[in-house]
Amino acid sequence: SEPTSIYEAIGGDEKIEELVEAFYDRVSQHPDLIPIFPSDFTEVKRKQKQFLTQFFGGPPLYIQEHGHPMLRKRHLRFPITPTRRDAWLLCMEGALDEAEIDEPYRSAMFERLTLTANHMMNTTEDDE
Ligand code: HEM
Repeated sequence: SEPTSIYEAIGGDEKIEELVEAFYDRVSQHPDLIPIFPSDFTEVKRKQKQFLTQFFGGPPLYIQEHGHPMLRKRHLRFPITPTRRDAWLLCMEGALDEAEIDEPYRSAMFERLTLTANHMMNTTEDDE
C-alpha cells in the first residue's frame, strides 16, 4: 500500500536513527555549533529522534514524553544567529546525503527543516 507519511516512506525508525547519528556527527565537529551544544550528545540525539519521528508523520514520541515542543521557546537560551542557522542546515544536508534519503523525500524534508530553522533564529551576529 502507499506510504502514509514521509516517516514511513523513507524507512521509519531505522532511517531516522541513521539521519540523526549522521547529523550530530557533523554538529559535533562544526566550529559554529560546538560552543552552544553539550559535549555529550546522548540526550539531544534521543530527543531529536523523537521529534523528527513525529515531525515527519510517525508516532508522536516527542509530545508523549516532553509535551508540546514549543521549539522556539526551548531554543531561546541559545544564541541562534543566521550563521548558526546556516551551519545547522549544512549539517542536515550532509546527513540527508549520508543517510541516502532519496527524492522526493529529501527535498520535502529539507524544505520543512529550513522553515523551522528560520523560525529558530533569535539574535543577530552583533549581539554575540
Ligand atoms: C535542542 C541548537 C534548529 C530541534 C537544541 C539544543 C541546541 C540546539 C543547542 C540544546 C542542546 C542541549 O540540550 O543542551 C539549534 C540550532 C539550530 C537549531 C543552532 C539552528 C537553527 C533546530 C531545528 C529543529 C530543532 C530546525 C527541528 C526541526 C531540536 C530539538 C531539541 C533541540 C527537538 C531538543 C529540545 C528539548 O530539549 O526537548 N537545539 N537547533 N532544532 N533542537 Fe535545535
